[in-house]
Amino acid sequence: SKKLNIGLFGFGVVGQGLYDIIRTKNLNLEIKKIAIKNPGKLRTLPQELFTTDRDELLNNPEINTIVELINDTEAAFEIVSRALASGKNVVSASKKMIATYLNELIELQEKHGTSLLYEGAVCGSIPIIRNLEEYYDNELLHSISGIFNGSSNYILSKGFLENLDYASALKQAQDLGFAETDPTMDVGGYDAKYKLIIAATHAYGVIIDPQEVLNIGIQNLSANDLQYAREKNLKIKLVPVAKELDARNMAMFVLPKFVTESEFLYNVEYEYNGVTVQAAFADQQFFFGKGAGGHPTGSAVLSDIAALRYDYGYEYKKAKAVKGLNFTNDIEINI
Ligand code: HSE
Repeated sequence: SKKLNIGLFGFGVVGQGLYDIIRTKNLNLEIKKIAIKNPGKLRTLPQELFTTDRDELLNNPEINTIVELINDTEAAFEIVSRALASGKNVVSASKKMIATYLNELIELQEKHGTSLLYEGAVCGSIPIIRNLEEYYDNELLHSISGIFNGSSNYILSKGFLENLDYASALKQAQDLGFAETDPTMDVGGYDAKYKLIIAATHAYGVIIDPQEVLNIGIQNLSANDLQYAREKNLKIKLVPVAKELDARNMAMFVLPKFVTESEFLYNVEYEYNGVTVQAAFADQQFFFGKGAGGHPTGSAVLSDIAALRYDYGYEYKKAKAVKGLNFTNDIEINI
């Protein structure tokens, strides 16, 4: 396999998690430079590893792989597009950026023969994108649903199991590094929606504008709602759904939902995520794992980096050719 010389953008929760993992392993890769926004922050690594100048990474011919882990959507898109256009492969965990610019990102990869991988962007440590890609050929994926946002699930679990109030639970999710810089992304269902849109591209070959997809979050749930669920032996979970409606149409939405004891999602608590896939012959399958945090997400990013050593790339074209479903908002939701 080829040696990867990495330029890393961002050294936050996931960047540091990734660095930690790489440091302990003897892999054929090296982080050459880390680009950061704020040079003033105390860093535990040698200063010469850091720069605030993007070009030091993007224009460096020695760096053949860019890992983008920043939380500014527009800056992330610029970095990733420049890298892909200049012949570098890219790993990114910026779900909003990827969901928003999927068309452009696919075109860039096709035009320049480069790869963008983003397992870390969807459900943290769970290798869901790879698995969804492998389902294409059978054309038999009926639905994907689950718990895609660790922070919301953490808040719901803390409220439900420990009676902790919403504000304190959110604060904990932030302190643990689970929440986005703007936690509205988490509790408003946006983060789950971006992940759903990305997953649907790989499952159904559809590329949908996030503004087209309904998302209702958990921020307006009350203690009474949780109490009601408890009395009925139900749980409330924030559930993104993508499903086939008929041979021609599919739908997507993110909503808080009552979950019964017989569903896999019932036992998914705290920062854990779960993905339920319903397929024609395989029937139901369930993926479970940590959905947020530096090490779990870092491990997914590393799996992408490792795949680039063998020039792995997503097979979007195959997805498009196989499914060809239309996305529609014209549905009645029974919750
Ligand atoms: N804020 C996200 C979450 C991080 O809570 O799930 C992982 O994508």
